[in-house]
Parts: sequence; C-alpha cells; structure tokens
Amino acid sequence: MVKAVRGMRDILPADSGRWHAVEAEIIQVLRNYSYAEIRLPMMEYTDLFARGVGEATDIVEKEMYTLADRDGDSLSLRPEGTASCVRALEEHGLLYNQTQRVFYNGPMFRYEKPQKGRYRQFSQIGAEAYGFAGPDLDAELIQLGYDCWQQLGISDRVQLQLNTLGSGAARGAFRAALLDYLRPLVNDLDEDSQRRLETNPLRILDSKVAATQTLLEDAPQLLEFVDAEGLAHFQQLQDLLSQLKIPFELNPNLVRGLDYYTHTVFEWVTTDLGSQGAICAGGRYDGLVERLGGRATPAVGFAIGVDRVVLLHELARPQPVENAAQIYVCVTAPEILGGAMQMAQRLRQALPGVGVRVHMGGGQLKKQFKRADASGATWAVLFGAQTTETDLVVKHLRDASIGQQQLPFEHAITQLGQI
Ligand code: HAM
Repeated sequence: MVKAVRGMRDILPADSGRWHAVEAEIIQVLRNYSYAEIRLPMMEYTDLFARGVGEATDIVEKEMYTLADRDGDSLSLRPEGTASCVRALEEHGLLYNQTQRVFYNGPMFRYEKPQKGRYRQFSQIGAEAYGFAGPDLDAELIQLGYDCWQQLGISDRVQLQLNTLGSGAARGAFRAALLDYLRPLVNDLDEDSQRRLETNPLRILDSKVAATQTLLEDAPQLLEFVDAEGLAHFQQLQDLLSQLKIPFELNPNLVRGLDYYTHTVFEWVTTDLGSQGAICAGGRYDGLVERLGGRATPAVGFAIGVDRVVLLHELARPQPVENAAQIYVCVTAPEILGGAMQMAQRLRQALPGVGVRVHMGGGQLKKQFKRADASGATWAVLFGAQTTETDLVVKHLRDASIGQQQLPFEHAITQLGQI
C-alpha cells in the first residue's frame, strides 16, 4: 500500500469531532470580534514568499515545497497565510482608504523535521487587521486569542510572551550592533548560529543552545535601539493588557522566524507539548504591504497552530468529542425500505445537526439492533409495516430505564432532539 507523505497526517473520523469542535469555537470567537473570512489559494508564486517572509528565513531557504509550473513559473505551496492575505487584499483594492479585519483557516506546508506537534502539512487559523497603527489593535488580537483559550478550556495551560522589535530602522541598527558583537565570537557559536550570523543574526537570540545563550549575555539589547515612539507603543500595549487582566511575560529574545515583523511580536506558549511549545504566534508587520508593492499600511495579526491546539484540548478534555449525535433507523422488512428512507428524511429535516442513519442490507431485527448499538447512536427508531405517518417506535440505546416507546411523530421528535 502507498503510505501518506511523511509529516502529512490523516485526521480520522474518531478525531475529526474534536477538530471540528476546536475550529468551530475559534471561528465563533473571530466572528464575535467581527473578523470576516477570506479564503486564499494554497499556491502562490514563490516570489511572494521570498519577498514577504524573507529570503534569509529558514522557511524560504529550506522549508518550502516549490515546483515549476508547466509554463516554467516557480510556484510554492503556502508555508503561511500572511503574505497571501496581503497579496489578495491588495490585488482586490481592499486596503485602499479602508480598514480590514479578516481571518483564514486552512493547511500550510513546510518541509520541517516531523515530530509530535510539528508536521509538514499543518493547519492554521490566522487573523489579520489592516489600517490600524496603534497598540489598541495589538491588544484586541491578544484579547481575541485569550478568549479562544478560555472558550476551549486551555487558558490555564498557555502563557503569553511579548516583545517589541521597534521600527524597521531600529531593527536594522540593532542587527548591525549584534553583528559587530558576534563576529569576533563566531567560532564559539553553535553550527546553526554560525550559518545564521550573516543572513539572519536576530534568530541567534532564540537559539536553544546553552553555550550560545551564555555568549549572548553581554550582547547589545534590542530594547536599547527602540525609539521613543516604539517604546510608547509597547508601553501602551502593556497597559491595555493589564487593564484587560491578561497576564504576559516580557521575553527580549522573542524575535520570530519571519522577516516582516516590526514593533510588537508575541507568542502563546505551553509547556505541555514538549518542544513544540508555541500554539499561536504573531505581531505587527507595518512594512509588509509596501514591501509587496502596495501603499504603506499598518498591519498586525497572528496565526493559531490548530494541530497543537487540538493536542492541548485533548490534554485538557481527554473524553472523546463525538461527531454529530446519531439516530439509527431499523427496518423490519425489505419491502418497506423506501418508506423508512422517507421517514428518515423527515427526521433529518426536523433535527438538523443530528445524524440519521438507515440500516442497509436487511437482516433480522436483532442483528440490526446490534449494529445500531455498535454505531454509537443514542436512539434507534424502529420502522415496521405497521408504522404509521403519525406514530414512531423509538428505543433509547444507552439508557435501559427509558426503553422502547411508541410516540406520535411530534413527541418523538422532541424526545429524539434531547440527545
Ligand atoms: P509562525 O510562528 O510561523 O507564524 O506559525 C504560527 C503557528 O503555527 C505556530 O505558533 C505553530 O503553532 C503553528 N505551526 C507552525 N509551523 C508548524 C508545523 N510545522 N507544524 C504544526 N504547527 C506549526 C506565522 O505563520 C505567521 N504568518 C503568523 C502571523 C500572522 N503573523 C502575523 N500574522
């Protein structure tokens, strides 16, 4: 048998109920904050990510699934959604003289080393806001994330980490100073950091190697380069978060792996998932719209790693999350199957959201009840030759004290609806 591609998973029926519940909860919160869905293609011209995410990032350098189209264009499966989102809004003139609050939901692709919580195809729900320069929108997005964790019952398992990168200019000056400091120490850096030194030195700050972290103790601090305006933005955000009673931790080493960030950056992290601790990450990217050819537009957003949130949800609520509740219709004789299928249709219309399954393949009633039981259904409905338009025979499969009842259709619906 051909197997699934390494790092690309099947979400099987036993797990999809939880996925659906998690996604529905997050999307509900997004709608409550009046974010509107945007659906984006899964492939873009490679150039979009090279310019948007940054040539020297790990993502663009070594993680993209890139292929040549039949006419020779270089295309890539999207490794993230922010660059596509900017491309789409700009292409449709939706950033001109207006603000936007949008969200997207779907698979992203990165050629990373797979392990628990890290996949080559993974799912993100992202939120992005355009046209707002102040820290108020940064705070709104953090509040929105916090709301999601509360709704999902995982807020006590995540912590918010916060940092500022200052303006593009501040970041450039810091980069130069960091390079001056690190160049003489290059031989003492770990291998990854040596490679990053000339291309992406800021990433060295979040190296996990202890010896590298020791070397960084006397390095210049990013915060020293942030100008007064940038510091005020960051302070106002912290004040707002305190008013909103959202706990946070300042992490001066939080620099993020994508090039487009300016000012605020944040990550929601957990210690419950081993090394894949970030369940949601984002920040401000005021320079990206312009970098991709549009007019300068302030922007801020985040993306939730849904695979990781599902894992965390499972830890917090280990009991299985069922797919739709079910009713199983047993049919006493083959010649009345058509009638049973019609009756099932009436049930489906009367009970939206409840799965109604008709027994197929005939056989004795005893066998049918066994199947009904094994299907996980809560109720069986018995459709026999005597079943009239008005009466239904229903049997609770999980609670013997309720047992079998013959009820007028409307009563039966009320009864069945209570599952
Ligand atoms: P990111 O930090 O690359 O940011 O990804 C966001 C989240 O996606 C991560 O915190 C993690 O939960 C999840 N994630 C990333 N890679 C994987 C993987 N290989 N397997 C499973 N989950 C993964 C971005 O993508 C930015 N576009 C976020 C953003 C939106 N910034 C501003 N707006």
